[in-house]
Amino acid sequence: MGLKTNALIFVLFAISIAEIRGQVGQCTTLTPCACVYDDGVIVNLTSLSRNDGFPNFSNKTDNHGDVYSWNPCTPFSYVGPKNNTECTNVSVCMVRHGFPSDLYFNLGTEDSAQFSVDVNGTLKLTYTKTEDGFQRSAEISLQCLDSSVFDFLVIQGEQDINNDTIVYKMTLASKWACAYAPKIDPALPSAGLGGGAIFAIVLFSLIGGYLLLGVAYQAFVKKESGARLCPNHEFWFSIPGYFKSGKKPLSETKGGAYESI
Ligand SMILES: *[C@@H]1O[C@H](CO)[C@@H](O)[C@H](O)[C@H]1NC(C)=O
Ligand SMILES: *[C@@H]1O[C@H](CO)[C@@H](O)[C@H](O)[C@H]1NC(C)=O
Ligand SMILES: *[C@@H]1O[C@H](CO)[C@@H](O)[C@H](O)[C@H]1NC(C)=O
Ligand SMILES: *[C@@H]1O[C@H](CO)[C@@H](O)[C@H](O)[C@H]1NC(C)=O
Ligand SMILES: *[C@@H]1O[C@H](CO)[C@@H](O)[C@H](O)[C@H]1NC(C)=O
Ligand SMILES: *[C@@H]1O[C@H](CO)[C@@H](O)[C@H](O)[C@H]1NC(C)=O
Ligand SMILES: *[C@@H]1O[C@H](CO)[C@@H](O)[C@H](O)[C@H]1NC(C)=O
Repeated sequence: MGLKTNALIFVLFAISIAEIRGQVGQCTTLTPCACVYDDGVIVNLTSLSRNDGFPNFSNKTDNHGDVYSWNPCTPFSYVGPKNNTECTNVSVCMVRHGFPSDLYFNLGTEDSAQFSVDVNGTLKLTYTKTEDGFQRSAEISLQCLDSSVFDFLVIQGEQDINNDTIVYKMTLASKWACAYAPKIDPALPSAGLGGGAIFAIVLFSLIGGYLLLGVAYQAFVKKESGARLCPNHEFWFSIPGYFKSGKKPLSETKGGAYESI
């Protein structure tokens, strides 16, 4: 096998390791702020919720100046200057500044909350408010930020009307958007194996499997012996040579192996 093939194998390893960490399948709605994946791991937004009648994510502005607020598990109310009642006991409220007064939009109450996973594997929490055959829908993409102590809500805002529905998009990036086994609470990182430990275990299992299969292949199929039992030995034994001669491996070969992938 040549250098290019080896480099390609390593890129494929890296990609497959990255994908092992993502969740697959659907996430079934358990409560308005928790869902469970097919393999039993849970996403639970409870810790992001305020219980005092105010939204935990309040008055976040999009590019057009519309102002959004969201509270995951407990309803909140905003009463406007004209005793506006639209955002009473809602999960998501949008305020559009206007003349003579601001407009309030109910973008969904708790009982409309639905979790789903789209074709790209992105977990989404969607609220829907129907009035007169017309719908407004808040679609919050949940992005797992493993070790972040901060939570971010970014507003993409109002999308073009489609099929009598206007979708309002946002993205939450938070450790609370991560899926975890019910016995492992992300608030207590020491309780379970961290992402790094799982990565190391997977990496070393893959290296172990590569060596075992490789040695067996060299011994039984290619009938090699001694140091030549080491799979891809031409490649591995050439590495010390690169360092001795002060050359960088791979990257300096003409039309570099990385570039040609
Ligand atoms: C979500 O977390 C809250 C508080 O930590 C807990 O009371 C609730 O049972 C959890 N829900 C699920 C479905 O695990
Ligand atoms: C509100 O959100 C912040 C992060 O945005 C979180 O740390 C906090 O626990 C949440 N809950 C309350 C009751 O404020
Ligand atoms: C957010 O906006 C609402 C409605 O304009 C207002 O009632 C509320 O006090 C604001 N909250 C914060 C934290 O600024
Ligand atoms: C809003 O409601 C309060 C009490 O319900 C009332 O006193 C006030 O006059 C109302 N304001 C407007 C602008 O209607
Ligand atoms: C909002 O919720 C409060 C507390 O649960 C309730 O007393 C009130 O009637 C609700 N208002 C509306 C308009 O549903
Ligand atoms: C999936 O990802 C592709 C490429 O990034 C994007 O064009 C497409 O809109 C995504 N689909 C959904 C449903 O988000
Ligand atoms: C339009 O919305 C209706 C009701 O929500 C749904 O049944 C239908 O499949 C939608 N059509 C398209 C093209 O998305």
